[in-house]
Amino acid sequence: YLNYRVPRTRRDIFQTLIKGLQRLEYRGYDSAGVAVDGSGKDHAASISLYKKTGKVKALDEEIYKNNAIDFEAELDTHFGIAHTRWATHGEPSPVNSHPHRSDKNNEFVVIHNGIITNYKELRKYLVSKGYEFESETDTEVIPKLIKYLYDNRENEYVSFSTLVERVIKQLEGAFALVFKSIHFPGEAVATRSVRAMVSLKLKTKICLLLFFSLSAIIEHTNKVIYLEDDDVAVVMEGKLYVHRIKRKAGEDPVRVIQTLQMELQQIMKGNFKAFMQKEIFEQPESVVNTMRGRICFDGNTVILGGLSDHLKEIKRCRRLILIGCGTSYHAGVATRQILEELTELPVMIELASDFLDRITPVFRDDVCFFISQSGETADTLMALRYCKQRGALTVGVTNTVGSSICRETDCGVHINAGPEVGVAMCVCAYTSQFVSLIMFALMLSEDRLSMQQRRLEIINGLKKLPELIKEVLALDDQIKSIADELHHQRSLLVMGRGYNYATCLEGALKIKEITYMHSEGIMAGELKHGPLALIDKHMPVIMIIMRDACYKKLIYATAKNFEISKMAYKTIELPQTVDCLQGILSVIPLQLISFHLAVLRGYDVDCPRNLAKSVTVE
Ligand code: F6R
Repeated sequence: YLNYRVPRTRRDIFQTLIKGLQRLEYRGYDSAGVAVDGSGKDHAASISLYKKTGKVKALDEEIYKNNAIDFEAELDTHFGIAHTRWATHGEPSPVNSHPHRSDKNNEFVVIHNGIITNYKELRKYLVSKGYEFESETDTEVIPKLIKYLYDNRENEYVSFSTLVERVIKQLEGAFALVFKSIHFPGEAVATRSVRAMVSLKLKTKICLLLFFSLSAIIEHTNKVIYLEDDDVAVVMEGKLYVHRIKRKAGEDPVRVIQTLQMELQQIMKGNFKAFMQKEIFEQPESVVNTMRGRICFDGNTVILGGLSDHLKEIKRCRRLILIGCGTSYHAGVATRQILEELTELPVMIELASDFLDRITPVFRDDVCFFISQSGETADTLMALRYCKQRGALTVGVTNTVGSSICRETDCGVHINAGPEVGVAMCVCAYTSQFVSLIMFALMLSEDRLSMQQRRLEIINGLKKLPELIKEVLALDDQIKSIADELHHQRSLLVMGRGYNYATCLEGALKIKEITYMHSEGIMAGELKHGPLALIDKHMPVIMIIMRDACYKKLIYATAKNFEISKMAYKTIELPQTVDCLQGILSVIPLQLISFHLAVLRGYDVDCPRNLAKSVTVE
């Protein structure tokens, strides 16, 4: 609460914090907690902590049934902190949840995202000094350490931010922290930092941090400041101060206030049953947003402003490497062929984790793409740092302005797919990443005469894409009726080849992650080399068969009879587009089928078990 002069009731404060946490739920969490100023006249001289495992709703209920809380009391100084946890050290439990505390009086409380790698040494030291630990987390060393430094300050006046700086100098790892203390009422200190003592090669855990997700604050303000590593932000007497821990010559400590374009209704579900369903149906608009202002449909030009300054360098390169994880990797698989065709360059597609495991050779004349919806995926970010060290030009393809991948790449394409709220995300992001990479191929081949006809065909295809997506979405009832027949099955295979192999991988991933059915995306060309053994009359198979160069190869039953509807148990007919864009249409029935299967099987589509929205650990 920056405007501390406006008194708030305690009920207001709880509601704001809990609502913010609820908006963060899509990121994946196993427990939640809040710390607010305590009760009594001198309320800021004590801190109350409430923590609970499970849904934020459970925490909310716990707070509201607590008779000791005076919800109507008006507080003129107030600063609350709240956190949803995804366990990395120690099982989900109230004691392991954040905020963590220094002692039973809650003198210092802390919330933390990230990992402290040297916590064992610090814990040992603090235990030797008489501090008692209550959790199994790495985080708990932080409040204990700040209390230790406070208790040993030897009559010197030490500000809250100086104490925090002293704490983080002792920490190794990567972390974002917010501190609150009864010794500094109405004040709070926040910081983020990466302090790795071992090089990347040794696979130190380096994760990326977010203080908050924009969705948690968007209803209160559209003004934000992104903190950089080693920034310390202090809130005091209703004002915000930001300074650097170690100031390098020429470094600008000023952080600009940015205005967010995101609107609350964008992140609300509307009439849909789940965010995922909403995101599926938003694709006619999200692909338009990705293309807006970048394609001149009358001519044949495509301009990706974020790459313009580096275009010459990109054109001189010897190889393109597309790197990502999960769905973002699939966007690379989907566009590889057209990138090869239009750029006439070798194109490698890489899963970020495997790319690093192999210590893959990378050269100065490579252009490396980092595809990531969140822009914060740890594996992808580490691959980016790895390629940078080797002198390659790095290009981000992200959906999150200000994300780490955005900031650390040399240049990039913002896919403009809008905020994604469902955990089984990358619904809009996949099709927008797909379109962005196609636009890149078009931009790069602009001056190749031999490619002009092909380019025009693709540009026309892109123009018609939103309408065709709507046609596919109109098939939802048909798709639902297939899901009605399939939802009791244990397995579902998805097969295809060529431009639609990526559709199989992506469809199978969606089915796995939200329906918990076994599903595999199979390259149909590999069928006879093994997977055929899985096939019997009980095994449901979805075949993606499009009228492209692979069509004949996919019709196995009778070479004479090309009418698929006569061979298949059920057929969904999709509108036809250019071969290299067909995957944007063919993935949609699989997104829909996975959604319907999950609902029919009784699962929470937006919160798949064990998954988090952004994977910020290796
Ligand atoms: C699939 C999914 C994940 C992500 C992967 C990469 O639905 O959500 O497979 O695609 O974790 O995430 P980003 O794109 O944020 O790097």
